Amino acid sequence: MARFVSKRFRIDEVQPGMELADSLIADNDKFALGGGTVLTRSLIQRLRGWGIEALDIRQVVNDGDKEPSLSAVQKAVSGEYNNTVHTLKRSFETIRFFKQVPLKEIRDLAVQTIEPLINRSGILNHLLVVQRKDDYTFHHCIDVAVLCGVIGRWLGYRDEELKDLVLAGLLHDIGKTQIPLEILRKPGKLTPAEMEVMRLHTVRGYNLVKGLGLPSSVLYAILQHHEREDGTGYPLQVAGDKIHPFAKVVAVVDIYDAMTSDKVYSKKTTPYDAVDSLMRDMYAKLDPNIGTVFLNNVRDYFIGNRVLLSDGRDAEVVFLGKFISARPVVRTEDDEFIDLEKNQDISIIKVVST
Ligand SMILES: [Fe+2]
Ligand SMILES: [Fe+2]
Repeated sequence: MARFVSKRFRIDEVQPGMELADSLIADNDKFALGGGTVLTRSLIQRLRGWGIEALDIRQVVNDGDKEPSLSAVQKAVSGEYNNTVHTLKRSFETIRFFKQVPLKEIRDLAVQTIEPLINRSGILNHLLVVQRKDDYTFHHCIDVAVLCGVIGRWLGYRDEELKDLVLAGLLHDIGKTQIPLEILRKPGKLTPAEMEVMRLHTVRGYNLVKGLGLPSSVLYAILQHHEREDGTGYPLQVAGDKIHPFAKVVAVVDIYDAMTSDKVYSKKTTPYDAVDSLMRDMYAKLDPNIGTVFLNNVRDYFIGNRVLLSDGRDAEVVFLGKFISARPVVRTEDDEFIDLEKNQDISIIKVVST
């Protein structure tokens, strides 16, 4: 179980997302905030305006086994998922240290463990709350493989082609095994020089597996998944129909997963913010058809999710408009319906359960 302690921060040190340790009541009874209220940028500004100089912030001391709200199904999925991550990690470490690609092991992983995950109902939601125990890169490759399977089906891929797409997702970042660990795991922002090295994972991944008899669609996905429709991507700045369709699917899924996962250099955002950002980028940089199919289908998954609001209340997502945004209609634990599109003071901080 998580244990909380309280630590005092000057108001100019307080960041959005921090939680109040105790209730805060003004001397003049002008406002009251409960303990556990998640502070937003506008709330912090308002508190500053009201002359508050310091706040007691809740800090997690032992966060070892949180997510107590996970259901039995979610726990089962977490177990299967983490076994899969563990196997992929072993394969990737073999590549890093012995320069050998255990392709059979990786193919078996795709067929025996990733395909069953794709067939799990509600898998997209499970991925949002699954307990993650390892490095981001391994989780990310499993997530992208699963998401490629799900979106691939929505796009009409079947049989061998769908299997290849899943394999493409699993292998898309295999070139990261050829990037120094100090760059891969750097907690801060990469320098331009380090960024250049990181970008080499596309070409190095392609070179690593090009002689192993993989389908060309998989090779293209590895090489081109950071290319963009408008030619602003890398490594070769190709655009439009010069980018393989598999690389275009991986690009959409890759961005969605990167945004909804915790990484060493940034905290995850909610899936609502992720799809919002995908929509903004979609028409210029990503394939609009793949983006639209993805967004239209994920909507069904998000209805009914339990979320934490920035005012500290739990709520359920009850309605999403035709175009998903980060601001759906929610029903709070005390039965209030809030259209977050109209009430911009409150936002979704995180998905609690699905
Ligand atoms: Fe990548
Ligand atoms: Fe990636």
